[in-house]
Amino acid sequence: MPLSLIIFCFLFLSVAYSATMDPYKFLHIVLNPDGTITRLQKHPETPATPDPNSHLPVLSRDVTINSSHNTWVRIYLPRQALSHHPPCSATKLPLIVYSHGGGFMFYAANSTYFHDFCVNLALNTQSVVVSVNYHLAPEHRLPAAYDDALDALHWIITTEDPWLTRFADYSNCYLMGDSAGGNIAYNAGLRAAAEVDQLEPLKIQGLILVQPFFGGMKRTSSELRLADDVKLALAVTDVLWELSLPVGVDRDHEYCNPMAESRCKGGDEIKQLGWKVVVFGSFGDPLVDRQMKLAQVLEEKGVEVEGYFEGDYKHADFTKEPTGALSKQLYERIKKFITILVA
Ligand SMILES: *[C@@H]1O[C@H](CO)[C@@H](O)[C@H](O)[C@H]1NC(C)=O
Ligand SMILES: *[C@@H]1O[C@H](CO)[C@@H](O)[C@H](O)[C@H]1NC(C)=O
Repeated sequence: MPLSLIIFCFLFLSVAYSATMDPYKFLHIVLNPDGTITRLQKHPETPATPDPNSHLPVLSRDVTINSSHNTWVRIYLPRQALSHHPPCSATKLPLIVYSHGGGFMFYAANSTYFHDFCVNLALNTQSVVVSVNYHLAPEHRLPAAYDDALDALHWIITTEDPWLTRFADYSNCYLMGDSAGGNIAYNAGLRAAAEVDQLEPLKIQGLILVQPFFGGMKRTSSELRLADDVKLALAVTDVLWELSLPVGVDRDHEYCNPMAESRCKGGDEIKQLGWKVVVFGSFGDPLVDRQMKLAQVLEEKGVEVEGYFEGDYKHADFTKEPTGALSKQLYERIKKFITILVA
């Protein structure tokens, strides 16, 4: 085939692709007249594995936090923690309160995809991980997910659950999430920042944001450069925001764009509380410019920020192979980030 023909075919196909890109088809959803969606794709689920005799390196348990509100968490405990007799404060593990990704609309705390990630996160960082099963949009639009994450924090300080009371170091707590979960960690973090007194003895030390999902009305250059990205096209992010944000607001709403109008919603509070923030991103992700901007603006506010922006990885690549090299590097960096030097 002559080169010009190949180029023609390529151009034709890419134009055809973006013209026919249907975000609803891509997301496998059908919008219903009452505002709910039908999810045509079922994501596999994994049962919890609470049995200490199972010899699994990480145990997990589902715990209801409010049955009338239908909220629950899945707790992950590295089994090695059980071998400390008796557990003393020096051997308690950091506590990571985690919100999964999925565009605010998909997956659950027991989805296999995120279960496997949390198992490896708990194991490799030697942390107790509490994964929040938050309510999904559009049936429950934002801020429902932020409220659920906050409910989980309040539950943690009142529960007598032995995995938490015996093994988790409440004074070394982090809010973490990837993609939409990163957005939830940030916004739930701001809510927690406004009521730290009510969350004692829980002491949040920082936010761990893995390719967090933010947006805005004005496109960034990475969004334009990767507008037709096969993993996260701009048309797809627009639909996700449309169905997740409160009805009637646009993408400059603070939930979506905390940096709109050059404010940095929450930056001052984070600085005041002395929380650290780590942001992970990559240049194959259309969201990377906003993630870098967030890191930069927080740093300018005086917040201690670690930003890792490297490689050509696509959106969600950090979580998709939880035992792969990229995730391993992620755990290593998180482990360093959450290590508090005991004087
Ligand atoms: C996952 O959670 C849902 C409730 O949110 C439950 O109906 C389902 O049975 C759970 N699946 C597994 C495998 O634990
Ligand atoms: C549980 O959820 C119900 C319904 O949303 C709410 O009215 C109640 O205050 C919640 N209870 C607690 C302890 O948070």
